[in-house]
Amino acid sequence: MEGKGLKISGLTSGYGGSMVFRNLDMEIPEGKLAALMGSNGAGKSTLLKSLMGVMPVREGSVLWDGTEQRSKAPFERARAGFGYVPQGRDIFPFLSVRENLILGLEARGVRPGAEHYRIVFDYFPEIETWLNRRGSDLSGGQQQILAFGRILLCRPRLLLLDEPTEGIQPSIVQQIGRVLIRLRDEQAMTILLVEQFVDFALELADQYYFMEHGELTRRGPVNEDTRQEIRGLIRI
Ligand SMILES: Nc1ncnc2c1ncn2[C@@H]1O[C@H](COP(=O)(O)OP(=O)(O)OP(=O)(O)O)[C@@H](O)[C@H]1O
Ligand SMILES: [Mg+2]
Repeated sequence: MEGKGLKISGLTSGYGGSMVFRNLDMEIPEGKLAALMGSNGAGKSTLLKSLMGVMPVREGSVLWDGTEQRSKAPFERARAGFGYVPQGRDIFPFLSVRENLILGLEARGVRPGAEHYRIVFDYFPEIETWLNRRGSDLSGGQQQILAFGRILLCRPRLLLLDEPTEGIQPSIVQQIGRVLIRLRDEQAMTILLVEQFVDFALELADQYYFMEHGELTRRGPVNEDTRQEIRGLIRI
């Protein structure tokens, strides 16, 4: 569909006087999954924060379904369909799992109904069994699932995920991979996955970007024929 999806152009962003990246371009069509890879400090998280609006951009454009988001606040982007899972989980340790889930909905001014929960429990059935536990009583991998589930409760159309597999066990990595594929294929969700685990990312992705020192130095489609070659081209 023409104009549907995420289109970033000329994006420039940084902290204080120093820019992390300049003039970035990226395009993810609706219902596609893009993997953004690159070494520590390359600027991947800064890009996601800039897309969500939790940090300001200096220049450039962030079009979502053809509508400019650049000057919109994070809550407005959330209402436009952006869902952001920051690096490092970010759940509230002293609140219950149920309370952690509800906080996600406040960003969109929605009162949680059964239909909201149903979608979360469909993708992550285990969350239903944890509702009365404290956030801090979950393992790291379980906290990652909760952080992901909390975003699904908001019914996003665009998912921005920052290293969801960092430090978690292989079975949960596989589970997250299956959920991402289902969200893309069943819900036509547009997904930008920041990931250092190259094999995992390339298994899922329709397209890839590789960032070095704030520049997107490589990009292209991912498929059976290109996967092996891309693995050889990028080194993290
Ligand atoms: N709050 C901050 N203030 C100042 N500089 C920062 C801040 N956060 C990150 N940086 C710097 O910006 C650059 C890009 O950092 P960023 O977190 O975007 O990298 P990354 O690609 O996500 O790395 P990683 O793979 O380690 O998560 C780094 O040089 C980092 O030191
Ligand atoms: Mg990061």
